[in-house]
Amino acid sequence: MKAWLLDKLGGLENLHIGEMASPEPASGEVLLRVHFAALNPADRYLAEGAYPARPALPHILGRDGVGEIAAVGAGVTGWRPGQRAMLLRGAVGVERAGTFAEFVCVPADNLVAVPEGWTLQQAGGGSLTYLTAWQAITQWDLPPASNILITGASGGVGIASVQLAKGLGHRAMALSRSPAKQEKLRQSGAVWVGSPDDSQWRKGLMEYAGGRKVNLVIDNIGGAGFSDVVDVLGPNGRISVVGRLAGPVPQFNTASLFFRRLRVGGVAAGTYSAAEAQAAWQDILTTLRQAEAAPVIDRGFDFDELPQAFEYLARGPMGKVLLTICAG
Ligand SMILES: NC(=O)c1ccc[n+]([C@@H]2O[C@H](COP(=O)([O-])OP(=O)(O)OC[C@H]3O[C@@H](n4cnc5c(N)ncnc54)[C@H](OP(=O)(O)O)[C@@H]3O)[C@@H](O)[C@H]2O)c1
Repeated sequence: MKAWLLDKLGGLENLHIGEMASPEPASGEVLLRVHFAALNPADRYLAEGAYPARPALPHILGRDGVGEIAAVGAGVTGWRPGQRAMLLRGAVGVERAGTFAEFVCVPADNLVAVPEGWTLQQAGGGSLTYLTAWQAITQWDLPPASNILITGASGGVGIASVQLAKGLGHRAMALSRSPAKQEKLRQSGAVWVGSPDDSQWRKGLMEYAGGRKVNLVIDNIGGAGFSDVVDVLGPNGRISVVGRLAGPVPQFNTASLFFRRLRVGGVAAGTYSAAEAQAAWQDILTTLRQAEAAPVIDRGFDFDELPQAFEYLARGPMGKVLLTICAG
């Protein structure tokens, strides 16, 4: 089979297309012929060696995807060849071979059916960001109709957070550097949008909210703007730290946490057990129906365009960026 192989850690430049034998499903596993796979910033971190996982090399990246079942291993019940299935975050693409290949073996308990009404592209890009956004929101006991501020809101986790916040009855407030993407975020259900590059964004948010401060920040960005997002939190405010696309926070005064009793909590989608991910997935689908929302796919790239797809992702997408492996 054709696969994108990462020969050594160090960076995405170490990726190349190679030929290798198709894997065979072990007991409890399913062999999937991959139609679409989604890119995630963590693929790049893993390639750079800046991610905790140290998979055997050459490694195949790709932790999201959808495909058709080609074979099932011993002991697998509930799945049969010819059915379509999509992945939930597990070890695939992290500690074991991922979806940037024609075939991938997946533990059966990491698979779910393609949700009704979703295209295969949506299923290929759907799950990891929703599981992440779900943990970021539900790890706290939030008051009803909370104000939730989301940074990097146009990205995969960001747009998933906007949709789930809306479906749960909260008020999603979104930061994006791009006016065009701000408009799309409004259409996706954000009640307020602003730019982190506008020095007055905190004032604008407070004016919109009638002085009612933010209950939860979902932060995908970190960097120099982190103190500003902490500033708009009200008493007992919460911060879900998801990512740090703008790098480390250069200076942070921990005293800003005291007086409002703020709490900071990390988010790690990889900590869901298979059973927890399956249960969360059902809640996510219910919430998306309430929000009348589905995955937003920005753009697809051909199989041999993976480096270009990663460059596009790094510039800031509007939703998910996909690799077409075999269109189905
Ligand atoms: N903790 C976890 O379990 C977990 C799970 C998934 C992802 N993550 C992490 O969460 C972060 C977001 O993931 P994602 O999939 O949503 O990423 P993404 O799809 O690449 O989107 C991130 C968005 O952030 C903005 N952005 C990108 N670089 C920026 C920069 N240097 N400064 C300010 N804004 C920037 C862009 O929005 P605008 O152009 O509109 O401003 C972009 O659309 C990543 O760091 C990722 O590794 C963590």
